[in-house]
Amino acid sequence: MNNAAPLRDSFGRVHDNLRISVTDRCNIRCFYCMPETGVEFVERREILDFEEIERFARIAAGMGITKIRVTGGEPLVRRDLPVLIRRLAAIPGIHDLALTTNGVLLADLAASLYDAGLRRLNVHLDTLDRERFFQITRRDDLPKVLEGLAAAKRTGFAQIKLNAVAVKNLVEDDIVPLALFARENGFEVRYIEFMPLDAQNLWDRGKVLLADDIIAALSRAISPLTPIPDPDPRAPATEYAYADGGGMVGFIASVSRPFCLNCNRIRLTADGKLRYCLFAIEEDDVKGLMRSGASDEAIAALVRRNVAGKWEGHEINSTKFVAPPRPMYSIGG
Ligand code: 5AD
Ligand code: SF4
Repeated sequence: MNNAAPLRDSFGRVHDNLRISVTDRCNIRCFYCMPETGVEFVERREILDFEEIERFARIAAGMGITKIRVTGGEPLVRRDLPVLIRRLAAIPGIHDLALTTNGVLLADLAASLYDAGLRRLNVHLDTLDRERFFQITRRDDLPKVLEGLAAAKRTGFAQIKLNAVAVKNLVEDDIVPLALFARENGFEVRYIEFMPLDAQNLWDRGKVLLADDIIAALSRAISPLTPIPDPDPRAPATEYAYADGGGMVGFIASVSRPFCLNCNRIRLTADGKLRYCLFAIEEDDVKGLMRSGASDEAIAALVRRNVAGKWEGHEINSTKFVAPPRPMYSIGG
């Protein structure tokens, strides 16, 4: 089989980006992702081990995947994560390795992650207000996240982005302070429109704080924002620059400006399922295949089939939209 051919779907989209969720567990409980109590986690033996994850990543790299992002749940609760990072960083063909974390455990792990070869970090942070942090995450861990960010900055990561979920009637007062904090520290903040992936089905269109409203607020309070011609049209964030030269802000406007047309991603869940979309209803069982002794070629064929069957887009804006059967923490952002 020719595994060198690009992973192209029926709409002509080439896939070079793999997101790997290493656990569905999390040490906080953001309401737009997890329920407050009674979360059902996948059993340990159903979670891919490092050998299986590395094997899949190598097969994917042989099929044109060049970028990997490690996600969760919260990836830093997975024991020995730096060991996996080192193994992923060493895969030929992987040019870009990044991690999305809530930052709670980052102070302890920043140096060993860097040492393992990680250079890019996204830290989830919605607010600098301790009470609102608690309200959103149901945990009082803002000081730990801030320590984690400071540690990551000292360690010398090439790029640190902040992910803020934009929920209407909740974070309006946090937008400007967070953006100022990011500017002061050389971080790039990215506002992510609230998506229908929460475990309690709280989402509705009226709860989405739209990118345009945030752009207007930041332009008024800090400095006018103008769009930057996108260096990578397939990246989901549209980037804006402050007129005063104070850096950039990104917007992942999944609801108001869907970017499915440019999607280049596939996702491997912690329990070894392959998904062509965050919102996919169907998935393919990579783990089952691996654990029944399948060859690399058979796994590659499954990946090709999955991508070939990819739909056009998520349809959040249509009455046809169906929320996926798994919430965010069990898919991996
Ligand atoms: N809508 C939008 N973004 C979300 N995240 C988690 N749940 C949601 C949601 N319902 C984001 C978090 C995390 C990233 C992986 O996904 O900010 O950083
Ligand atoms: Fe945990 Fe991330 Fe979900 Fe928040 S969004 S509960 S940090 S997995």
